[in-house]
Amino acid sequence: MSESGIESMAKSSLKFDPPVQFASTAHVKSMAEYEKLYAESIADPEAFWAGRAAESHFFRKWDRVLEWNAPFARWFVGAQTNVSYNCLEHQIARGRGDHTAILWEGEPAKSDGSPRDVVRLTYRQLLVEVCRCANGLRKLGVQKGDRVTLYMPMVPELVIAMLACARIGAPHSVIFGGFPAQAIVDRLQDAKSHYVITADGGWRRGIIVPLKANVDQACQMTDLVKKVVVLKRCGNDVTMTAGRDVWWNEAFADCSDQCAAEQLDSEHMLFLLYTSGSTGKPKGILHTTAGYMVYTAQTAKYIFDLKPDDVYWCTADIGWITGHSYIVYGPLQNGVTVVMYEGAPNFPEWDRFWAIIERYKVTKFYTAPTAIRAFMKQGTGWPEKHDLSSLRLMGTVGEPINPAAWMWYHETIGKKKCPIVDTWWQTETGGILIAPLPGVTPTKPGSATRPFFGIEPAVVDKDGNDQPRNVGGLLIIRKPWPGILRGIYGDDARFKQQYWSQIEGHYFTGDGARCDEDGYFWIMGRVDDVIKVSGHRLGTAEIESALVSHPKVAEAAVVGYPDDMTGEAIAAFVTLKGGVKVDDMMKEELKRHVVGQVGSIARPKEIRFADALPKTRSGKIMRRLLRELATKGRVDGDTTTLEDFSTISQPADDE
Ligand code: PRX
Repeated sequence: MSESGIESMAKSSLKFDPPVQFASTAHVKSMAEYEKLYAESIADPEAFWAGRAAESHFFRKWDRVLEWNAPFARWFVGAQTNVSYNCLEHQIARGRGDHTAILWEGEPAKSDGSPRDVVRLTYRQLLVEVCRCANGLRKLGVQKGDRVTLYMPMVPELVIAMLACARIGAPHSVIFGGFPAQAIVDRLQDAKSHYVITADGGWRRGIIVPLKANVDQACQMTDLVKKVVVLKRCGNDVTMTAGRDVWWNEAFADCSDQCAAEQLDSEHMLFLLYTSGSTGKPKGILHTTAGYMVYTAQTAKYIFDLKPDDVYWCTADIGWITGHSYIVYGPLQNGVTVVMYEGAPNFPEWDRFWAIIERYKVTKFYTAPTAIRAFMKQGTGWPEKHDLSSLRLMGTVGEPINPAAWMWYHETIGKKKCPIVDTWWQTETGGILIAPLPGVTPTKPGSATRPFFGIEPAVVDKDGNDQPRNVGGLLIIRKPWPGILRGIYGDDARFKQQYWSQIEGHYFTGDGARCDEDGYFWIMGRVDDVIKVSGHRLGTAEIESALVSHPKVAEAAVVGYPDDMTGEAIAAFVTLKGGVKVDDMMKEELKRHVVGQVGSIARPKEIRFADALPKTRSGKIMRRLLRELATKGRVDGDTTTLEDFSTISQPADDE
C-alpha cells in the first residue's frame, strides 16, 4: 500500500488472556460462543438484530428489519419507539426506578479535596426532570422535528435536555462547550436551529467558561435564534435579552412532570452531531431513532459487560459522540449508575479521576489514551493514594493506544486484574465496531482486536481487493449495521462522496489498518486530511481556512505530525502577505486567531513561515513533504513532481 503511504506497523508480541473470574460471570463466556454468535450475525443480520431489538421497547413492531438501498439504510422499518422512553420508563418497568441513574459531581472542590456539588438522580427522578423539561420546551414553541442546540457544561441538565428532546422528537445538536462563538454560528446555521439551551458558565480548571456570553456573541452573527434557555450553574453575570432569553428554572419549574413519550418512527432523526471531515466546514452527522438505540444498548451491554449493579464512568465530554453513545444512551438503556464529572482531570490535583473512582466505587471506567499518557507522566504516586479495587473493566477510545500507555493502564490502574477494551469506532458509526468482548477476547496492547456482532470490516487496497494478512490498507465495513449514520445533514452528495465512493458500495472509514494472523485489527490512523489531536478530530482544511481568514495571511497548509503526549500535533505552514514581518509575535497572533475561529483544541503547536508552499505542477499542496518536514525537520521523500523545490530545499521557516 505504498500509494496511500500506509506501512505495516511492527508486530507486538504481547497478549493477555481475559481474567478467568471475569469470564465466569460475563454475558459472553467463551470464544466459541462469540464465534457462534458472530457467524450468525453475519450470515443473517436481520434475524440477529431482530433478536437483540427484542430487549428494547417498541410501541409498534417493525415490518422489516433492514431496507438497504446503498448507501441509505433503514432499520426496523415501520416500527415506532422512543429512545427517552427506553432510557427511563423501560428501566423503571424492569425494576430500576429507585436505582441511581446519574451520579454527578461538579468541578469545584472543598479544602479537603471533596467535591462541593454532588447530584444523585434515580431513574424515577430523572424521568420527572426530563418530563418537566420536555413540557417546558413545548411551551417555548419547540415542536417535533425542530433542531435544538445544546451548548452546556457537563451537568445533569445536559442529559435531561437530551432526553427531553428525544422524548418529544426534537433532534438535538450538542456543541462542545470548548468551542468558540464562530463554531456555534456555523452549526446553528447548518442545522437551521431556532432554540438554544446553555448555561451562564461551566467550570473548567477553576475558571468559568463563559458559555452564555459565547451564545450572545453567536446570536449577533445570526438572527436564527428565537429562544435561549439559560441554566444557572456558576452564578457569573450574564446579560439576558428580553423576549429571547429565559432562565431554565423559570421556564421549566412549573411544568407538569408528566409527558408521554412521542411514538416516533424508527427512522425519525434523533440527533445531529458535527464533526470534522477532510474538506470544508464540519458536517452534521445524522443519527436516527431505533437503529442507534438498539446498537448503543447492545454494544454497551456486551463490550462493557454491563450489569445492573455497575457504577460506570466514561470520562468523555457529551459534546463528542463518545458522550452521546456511552454516557447517555447506551448505559442508561442498561439501567446502570452513570457517573458524570464536570471538569478537568487535574483539578484541583492530578488524582481527581482516581478520587472519583474511589469515592463512588466505579466498576467500569472508559477514557482516552491521551488522558492515560498525561497521567502516566505524573507518575504512580497519584493513583497509589487511592483504593481502585472496585474497578472490574477499563476501556479506551479515540486514537490508537501505544503499548507503553496500555501497560501502564493495565498495571497501575487495573492492577493486572481488569480486562482492557480498546474500542474502535467513529462519530459516523454511532457505536463501537471493533473491540474485545471482555470475558472472552485475549487482548494485544495496541489492537482493538475483533469486530462486534454484525460488523464485517475488511482491509483492502485502493481498488477494493482484500489485502493479505499483516499488510496495511484501507479499512472498510462491508455491510450496514443499525448504528450507521443515515447521512450528512442537508448534503447527500457529500455523504455519498465521502463514505461510499472510495470503494463502491462499502462504507469507507477514512482509517488505515492491518489485520493480523489472528484476525485482529490494528488501526494505523487516518488516511485522509483528518488529524487527531488528544483524540479530538480536526480537519486540516478547517484550520487552513481559519488561518487564511486572517488579513495578513496569503496561504496556509496544515499537517499533523506525531507527538508523544497528544498523539498528533498540528503544524501550520504559512505564507504571509507581502511586507508582513515574520516573528514570534506573528506566530502567537495566528495561534490566537485559530483558537478564536475553531477552538483551543485546534491551536497549532508549530507555525512555520514560508515564501511559498510546495505544490505539484497541477497546484496541489504537497502535504506529504510538509508532514515530513514537520516530523523530521527535513525532506527525504520523492520530490520529482514538485513545482518549485526551492521552497523546501532551503528551510523557508524561521528556524
Ligand atoms: O481514526 C480513528 C480514531 O478516531 C476516528 C474517529 O473519530 P471521532 O469520530 O471523533 O470518534 C472518536 C470516538 C469514537 C477514527 O476514524 N479512533 C477512534 N477510536 C480508535 C481510533 N483509533 C485507534 N484506536 C481506537 N480505539
